[in-house]
Amino acid sequence: MRIVSLIWMVGFWSGLVSGEDAYKYYTWTVTYGTAAPLGVSQQVILINGQFPGPNLDCVTNDNIILNLINNLDQHFLLTWNGIKQRKNSWQDGVLGTNCPIPPNSSYTYKFQTKDQIGTYTYFPSTLMHRAAGGFGALNVYARSVIPIPYPIPDGDFTLLIGDWYTATHKALELMLDSGMPLPYPEGILINGRNASTMSGDPGKTYMFRVSNVGLLTSFNWRIQGHLIKVVEVEGSHVIQNTYDSIDVHVGQSVTALVTLDQPPKDYHIVASARFTEAPLLTATAVLHYSNSEGSVADMPPPPPEGVEWSVEQARSFRWNLTANAARPNPQGSFHYGMMNTTRTLFVANSAPVIEGKQRYAVNGVSYVNPDTPLKLADCLNISGVFSLDGAWRGELATAVVETALHDSIEIVFQNHEDAIQTWHLDGYDFWVVGFGEGNWTESSREGYNLVDAFTRHTTQVYPKYWSAVLVSLDNQGMWNLRSSMWGRQYLGQQLYIRVYDPVHSLANEYDMPTNALLCGRALP
Ligand SMILES: *[C@@H]1O[C@H](CO)[C@@H](O)[C@H](O)[C@H]1NC(C)=O
Ligand SMILES: *[C@@H]1O[C@H](CO)[C@@H](O)[C@H](O)[C@H]1NC(C)=O
Ligand SMILES: *[C@@H]1O[C@H](CO)[C@@H](O)[C@H](O)[C@H]1NC(C)=O
Ligand SMILES: *[C@@H]1O[C@H](CO)[C@@H](O)[C@H](O)[C@H]1NC(C)=O
Ligand SMILES: *[C@@H]1O[C@H](CO)[C@@H](O)[C@H](O)[C@H]1NC(C)=O
Ligand SMILES: *[C@@H]1O[C@H](CO)[C@@H](O)[C@H](O)[C@H]1NC(C)=O
Repeated sequence: MRIVSLIWMVGFWSGLVSGEDAYKYYTWTVTYGTAAPLGVSQQVILINGQFPGPNLDCVTNDNIILNLINNLDQHFLLTWNGIKQRKNSWQDGVLGTNCPIPPNSSYTYKFQTKDQIGTYTYFPSTLMHRAAGGFGALNVYARSVIPIPYPIPDGDFTLLIGDWYTATHKALELMLDSGMPLPYPEGILINGRNASTMSGDPGKTYMFRVSNVGLLTSFNWRIQGHLIKVVEVEGSHVIQNTYDSIDVHVGQSVTALVTLDQPPKDYHIVASARFTEAPLLTATAVLHYSNSEGSVADMPPPPPEGVEWSVEQARSFRWNLTANAARPNPQGSFHYGMMNTTRTLFVANSAPVIEGKQRYAVNGVSYVNPDTPLKLADCLNISGVFSLDGAWRGELATAVVETALHDSIEIVFQNHEDAIQTWHLDGYDFWVVGFGEGNWTESSREGYNLVDAFTRHTTQVYPKYWSAVLVSLDNQGMWNLRSSMWGRQYLGQQLYIRVYDPVHSLANEYDMPTNALLCGRALP
C-alpha cells in the first residue's frame, strides 16, 4: 500500500517564487515492464521505471526540454494533452506532426507551458500504447505573482483514472487491425492500481487532480461522505460549485478541492463506469485521515443514472468571469460571444464497415495515417501526402480541413450513435457553448451560452446528442481533431485542421526544429 506524501507538494506550492520562464530538463526512458494491476501479471509500458509515468510538475511559462528515449520494440511518441504548443505544432507528438521515434532512438521535445495553468496529462499517441501505460500527469501550477481564486490548498493528489484490459497493447492492435471493435474493459484503475491510499490531516483542504486516462469509458468520481468543490477544468477557473460526484469523460481533467471535515476514519474514493450497459466496473482508493479511528466501511451508493443528470452537471460548469487566468486579467475580458464565426464545421461520428472491417469515421471519411507527417509535408512542399477538404475521395482518406489564421469557427459535433463520444482538439481550447438532444439545427444556436461558458480541450457528446463549441483560430499549425476514445482514433475517427497563413512569419509559427526526426517521403 502506498501512502502518498503531502510534504513534498506543500513545499512545491510555497516554493514558486523563483524567476520566470525557467528551463526544466528531463530525460525519460520508455521500456516494457511487468505489473499486475488486476491481479494478472501483464506487460506494461514504463517511463523511468514507473507505471503510471512520473508527474511532470511545472509552472506557467516553464520551458520543458525533455529527451525521450524509446527502448520499446515499436516506434513511439508522447503527446501533451491540452498543452497548446503555441506556434509550435512541431512538438505536439502526434503522427500528423512528428515522425515517430524509432526503437533504440530518442527525440528531445522543446515546448513552453505558455499562459497555461491547470491539470493536464501526457500519454503515448502511437499504436495502442496508451492501453499499456506510458501516461502520466502534467500539472501546471500558477506563478506566485498571479493570485488564484481559492486559498492555496494544504497539498494535492493526482488521480489518473482509466479503464483497463489484461490483454497487451499488441493484442489489442491485432484485434483492431483485424476489424473488430475494442471489447468491454476488464477493470478500472486509479493510479495504476485498485487500492491506493491518500492520506491527509483533519480540517485541511486538499486539491484532487482527476483525469480520465482510459480508452473507452466515462466514469463518475466521488469521495464517500465528502463534498467536491470544482475549481478548475482544463485550464479554466470555473464557478466553485460543490457536487456529491462528478462525471469525467475520456481525455478530460477536472481539479477539485475537498476538505477533510468528516469524523476521523477512512473513506472510499470511488470511480465507476458510466454510460455502459455491461456490468458496472468500479475502482476504489482510500482517503485516510491521519487521526483515523476506523477503516473503510460499506461502499457509497452508486451515482444517479441516466444522461440528463450528466448533461445538467455539464451545464452547471461555468466560467468565473472575474477570476484570473494564467495572466493577471479576468477570464471574461475576452467576449467570446461577440466572435463572428466564418465557418461551421460539422463533425458527425460513425462506425462504418469498410472493406469488411470495422472502422470509425468523421462525416463518412475514415482517417488513415500518411507515411510522412502532414506538418513535414507542408513545410517541405511534399505533395500528395494529404487532401484538403473538398478534395476528400472515398471512405478512407488523410483528411485535412483548411482554415485561415485568426478566423473563428463553430464546430458542431453530432452523435447519431448510441455510444457516448469524446472529442479533443490539439493546439487550442474551445468554448463549449451548448449540448442538445437529437439533431443540431440552426435554431439550436438560440440556446447557446454566450456569456459564461468555459474553455476546455476535450468535450463529451452524449448518445444521440450534439455538442457545439466555438474556437478562435489564433494558433498557426497542423492540429489533430480526434476522438479521445483510442480504439476509435486508431481506426480513423480523427482528422487534422490546418490553420494557415500564406505569409511566412516567425511571429506566427516557429520554423521546423533542427532536431526534427525525418521519415517517409521527408527522408533525404
Ligand atoms: C535495441 O537495443 C537492444 C539492446 O541493445 C537490442 O537487443 C535490440 O535488438 C535493439 N532493437 C532494435 C529494433 O534495434
Ligand atoms: C470568482 O473569482 C473571484 C476572483 O478570484 C473569487 O473571489 C470568487 O470567489 C470566485 N467566485 C466563485 C463563485 O467561484
Ligand atoms: C476494486 O476493489 C473494489 C473493492 O475494494 C472491488 O469491488 C472491485 O471489484 C475492484 N475492481 C477491480 C477492477 O479489481
Ligand atoms: C463582428 O461583426 C460585427 C458587425 O460587423 C462587429 O461590430 C463586431 O465588432 C465584430 N466582432 C468582432 C469580435 O470582431
Ligand atoms: C516551399 O514552398 C514555399 C512557397 O512556394 C517556399 O517559400 C518554400 O521555400 C518552399 N520550401 C522548401 C523547403 O522548399
Ligand atoms: C437526424 O439525422 C439523421 C442523419 O442525418 C437522420 O437519419 C435522422 O432521421 C434525423 N433525425 C431527425 C429526428 O430528424
